[in-house]
Amino acid sequence: MNPLELARARPGPAFTVMFDGRPVEALPGQTIAAVLWAAGVTSWRTTRGEGRPRGVFCGIGVCFDCLVTVNGRTGQRACLVRARPGDLIGTQEGTGHGGEGRQGSGRADRADDGTGRTGPGDEGTGRAH
Ligand code: FES
Repeated sequence: MNPLELARARPGPAFTVMFDGRPVEALPGQTIAAVLWAAGVTSWRTTRGEGRPRGVFCGIGVCFDCLVTVNGRTGQRACLVRARPGDLIGTQEGTGHGGEGRQGSGRADRADDGTGRTGPGDEGTGRAH
């Protein structure tokens, strides 16, 4: 059953966002993660070390696995950011700043935290997803 029917939700009219250059339909109030899931996209980031795919893990803004680039801003948590009409969403590789990519730079994959810590979703955490 459609989750909208289960919740008896009556969202406003759909709008379009772009994901990696293709149009994707979104509903008012949906997070970017929800939009991408509804479109069948389950990963939209690669880890900085080995380029492994990542998407939603916690879904509540804690793990930073879901980082995505939105309108040119890297490191946005797709599970928290609401989609807006015309958003340009892009897969994020590594930190999203280029250069270090899959070679690794020693920088944290968590965008802009400045701690140098590696976060969940990086290689070596032992997580299976
Ligand atoms: S899925 Fe964990 S922060 Fe978004």
